[in-house]
Amino acid sequence: MQRDFKLHVNGQVHAVATDEDRPLLDVLREDLGLTGTKYGCGEGECGACTVLIDRSAVRSCVTAVGSVGDKEIKTIEGLAHNGELHPAQRAFIEKQGLQCGNCVPGQILSAVALLDRKKNPSRKEIIEAMEGNICRCCNYANILASIEHAVKSQEHLAGGSNANR
Ligand code: FES
Repeated sequence: MQRDFKLHVNGQVHAVATDEDRPLLDVLREDLGLTGTKYGCGEGECGACTVLIDRSAVRSCVTAVGSVGDKEIKTIEGLAHNGELHPAQRAFIEKQGLQCGNCVPGQILSAVALLDRKKNPSRKEIIEAMEGNICRCCNYANILASIEHAVKSQEHLAGGSNANR
């Protein structure tokens, strides 16, 4: 059913009139022009379409826009702050976590959700948290190195604290 929505995306409110069952991914890409969120499988299996909703990683291809309400959606376009890349974005560049790039926005947002839950995750915890994000280039070693680098960068920014939340 067609309805009017006010979507809170990257700190802005967007008015959208659309079918409530339409995937959030389509609305982000086609209606709001936020094409940083990628289509992979369309079935909730690959993680390419991952966005943050109220700071949790969510597959936007299997999330109906009508289910989001006034929760805060964050896409890769909204991750930088005051022109500064997020430490996870910088880490993916510095440790070559990107190859073709299609999975990378989803990889980074899943990593950000993990680092938001736990400041100093172990390698095992990173691998477990990221196992739903598939990389068709199989760049997993560099993706893992990127996230471990982001963890260290955050510790550095926090003055060396490695306390878990
Ligand atoms: Fe959404 Fe693959 S495109 S999980």
